[in-house]
Parts: sequence; structure tokens; C-alpha cells
Amino acid sequence: MKRHWMLRAAALASALCLMGTIGGCTGSKPDAKLTQIKIGMTLYKQDDTFIATVRDHFVEAAKAREAADNVKISVNIMDAKGNQGIQNDQVDKFLSQGYDVICVNEVDRTAASVIIDKAMAADIPAIFFNREPVSEDMQRWDKLYYVGSDPSESGMMQGNIVVNLYDADPDAVDRNGDRKIQYVMLEGEPGHQDAAIRTEYTIKTLLASNIRVDKLANDTANWQRAQASAKTALWIEEFGDAIEVVFSNNDDMALGAIDAYRAAEIPLPVIVGIDATPPALEAVRNGTLAGTVLNDSKGQAQAIFEIAYALATGKDPAETVPQLEGRYVWMPHRMVTIENVEDALAD
Ligand code: GAL
Ligand code: CA
Repeated sequence: MKRHWMLRAAALASALCLMGTIGGCTGSKPDAKLTQIKIGMTLYKQDDTFIATVRDHFVEAAKAREAADNVKISVNIMDAKGNQGIQNDQVDKFLSQGYDVICVNEVDRTAASVIIDKAMAADIPAIFFNREPVSEDMQRWDKLYYVGSDPSESGMMQGNIVVNLYDADPDAVDRNGDRKIQYVMLEGEPGHQDAAIRTEYTIKTLLASNIRVDKLANDTANWQRAQASAKTALWIEEFGDAIEVVFSNNDDMALGAIDAYRAAEIPLPVIVGIDATPPALEAVRNGTLAGTVLNDSKGQAQAIFEIAYALATGKDPAETVPQLEGRYVWMPHRMVTIENVEDALAD
């Protein structure tokens, strides 16, 4: 009975709002008249540590706004399980069920055009995040957005963590004293902008600081801790204690490297990651991880939510989301080392 009444009240409210668009439905609290907003989100892989934190912060942001604006926001989050075909089907479902906006963490960022075609045909805006579509795709429609972080910035910060350690005490990094850093590089998924560009800028930063480097090995571990641990175990067998630095495109893989060193029972070299996930911050605190770079999952989730909310309520995100540069949001990073890890843990 009560539910029935609420539905009628909601229908009436939206009818009022529709009529109001002619007479001006733009009071100070227009949101109070909305019945329900439906946001669909699809994740490339739900068990990815960083992506899971983005998801959790997104749900929190939606709940907070629901309470603050007295609207019903329904968020449907689906796991594409690393399969672009599954993700395309999920997008089809959202579009055919009349979602107001879709948020897409693509499995294959170069395959965005298929999803863009579908969204354009349904006239439902799309916010891509974390896995950046190529700019040709982004330019196809003015209802496409991207939220992420600049991989050249995180790469430079990761490089600078090692530059700072080296400058403070070269022998602590360059253990064989040849004034070159022997390193290995654990890379994220091939084709991911954060893998290629972070790798490039990390090394460029060392070279720009006149630190000479010697690459012993590099390989992908697809962002994953277990894969990184297996790769590092092989490198330890091959190079032993000649590895002076393990660079890793993300924290999970850096933690995998630490696992391998612990299993091999040899002293840890300098190991650096990116993301500042909770277990990585613990590792910085206990000294096994020399540093990481905060990839602001909360800030990114909030930006995705704010853009989605604006689009779903008929507003221009450019007016409500100050971080937007055109249709892009680039969330800034921050370096995290033993010196400021307590602040990062407290955030
Ligand atoms: C990166 C992040 C990785 C992984 C990847 C997934 O930005 O650093 O840990 O989550 O995104 O696309
Ligand atoms: Ca050396």
C-alpha cells in the first residue's frame, strides 16, 4: 500500500517536473523531484585490487548523494571478468533497460568504438574510466567522458622515489658500486596506457637525473601479485642479488616481488610500486616497499559519480565537476614513502 502511494507520488513529482521545464523547474532543490536515477557500471575485472577500491568509493559517493539530495540512485555494477564480449552484453543490457548513464572500465581500451556506437544509438552518455580510449574514439561524441590519472606523472614520481634514495645514499641503492642501477621492470597488461607510459617515464626520470641504468629484465605480470611473484622468482634464480631495484607498474605486482624475495630468503632490493593500496601502505610502513605513488581511487570514483549524476539529472558536468578539462578528468598523484606514509594511512 505504502509502496503504491510512493510510486504515485513519484510519478506525480516527475510529471510536475516535466511540466515545470516549461515554466522553470529549476528551483534550488530540483533533485528532490526526481524519482530515480539508474547508473550502470561495468568493470574490466572486479577482483583487481585498485578497481575494487574505485568501485567501493563509487558506491559510497552514490549513497552519500542519495541521502543529501533525497533522490533514489540505483547503481548496478557488473564484472566483465576480463572478457570484452561479456562487457558488450552488459552494456547492451544497461542501454536496453533505459539506464541514465553508463560507466565503463573497458576490458580492451582499443575496442571502445563498439560501445560508443551502442551508446550513441541509444543516446545514453558514457563515462570511461581507468582504461583510456584512444582520442579518436573520445572525439566521436560530446557525451563521452574519461576519468583517470596521467601515467607519465605516476611514472615520474616512481622514478623520483628512487632518485631521492640514490641521491641521499648511492650505496644503499647501487649495491655493487658500479654507479649504475641494475633493475628489473614488472609491467602491467600489454596495451594498457598505464603499463607502457609509466615504464617509459620512470626510466626517463632516472636518466634525466643523470643516473645510469642497466636493465636486467622486464616482463608483464598483468597487474597481478601471483604472476609477479612467479616472474620475480625466476629473475632471482637468474640474477641473484645483482638486482638493485625492482620497478613495478603497480603495487600488487610489487607485493608479488616482495613475496618472491621472502620465499628465496635473500635481502630485498629497492622495490617501488604505484597505487597506494592498503597492503602496499602497510609494506611501506614496515620497510619492505621503498615507496609507492597514490593513484587516487577515491577522487576518481567521486569524479565519475559527479559526472554521472550531472548527466543523469540533465545538468552540464562542466558546471558541476570543477576537475573537468574538456571531457577529461586527470586526478593528481602523490608520492608516498616512509616519510609521509602515516598521512596516507590516515586518509
Ligand atoms: C591501473 C592500476 C592497476 C590496475 C589497472 C587496471 O591504473 O594502477 O593496479 O588496477 O589500472 O586497469
Ligand atoms: Ca649497480
